[in-house]
This record gives sequence, C-alpha cells and structure tokens, in this order.
Amino acid sequence: MEEVIDLSKIDEVVSEYGGEKGALIPILQKTQDIFGYLPNEALDEIAKEIKVPKSSVYGVVSFYAQFYRTRRGKNIIKICDGTACHVKGSSKLIRTIKEELRISSGETTDDYKFTFETVYCLGCCAVSPAIVVNNEISGKITKNKLKNIINNLK
Ligand code: FES
Repeated sequence: MEEVIDLSKIDEVVSEYGGEKGALIPILQKTQDIFGYLPNEALDEIAKEIKVPKSSVYGVVSFYAQFYRTRRGKNIIKICDGTACHVKGSSKLIRTIKEELRISSGETTDDYKFTFETVYCLGCCAVSPAIVVNNEISGKITKNKLKNIINNLK
C-alpha cells in the first residue's frame, strides 16, 4: 500500500516554528505525529525548508530512538516482556498477538492497522503482565482481555 505524502502539511509545521533550524526536533516530532513515522520525502522537505543539509536531518533522526523511519500501524501494541511480566505470562500474550494479527515483534500488519513491539519493563511490575496500547498502559492483562482489546481496534 503506497502512501502519498502531502508535503504541504510539512510546510505548515515548519512555518509554525518560523522555519527555525533550532526547532528541528519539535518539527520532526510534529511531522511524525502527522504521518506516524518520518518518510524520506518529509525529511527532504524539512531540510529544504529550514535550510540545513539533508545529512544533518537524517543524522538527528537516526540518533533518537523516538523517531521511526518506516511506516507503522495506526495502533501500536507494546507487550512488556521484562522479568516480572515474563514470570506472569507475557509469552502467552506475545503468542496471542501472533495468532490474532499474524505478526512478530517489530512488525506491522499488511493493512497498517497494527504494529507490535516488545518492551522490557514499563515500571509497573506490580500489575504485570503489562501492555501499552496507543500510549495507554494497562496491567493484569490476560489472553482474553488482549483479544478483546485487539477486536475493539479492528
Ligand atoms: S517487567 Fe513488565 S512492567 Fe516491569
């Protein structure tokens, strides 16, 4: 599924920050909020608009783990597989994702509805096993609860 990148949205973001070079990080964050990741076309446009070399923009993007270069799903499901969550059955949850969505950790469904990632300790071990769905943490997750969450997002 080829995505068309509307570059006028980037121009709007850049002008919001007055085309300032120093605003590169917030510009990248806003652009990622719009597209869900940072496509090459967007990075090239940002470099052009704020007049910095493309290599600098790409360098910043690859330095920070918060930035994604490949298209991700509309819904991001993170399963914690840290020690406490592992002991409480996170591997069952990981299997459930594989059964329900047919993707492994780090992958996105073909329809770009879901991306699944494994993380290691969300800092809420008391309610393990824990997951994060679209930035919202939930604890004491069972296989059935996870199936319901997925079905509600489908
Ligand atoms: S190990 Fe999962 S929240 Fe700490």
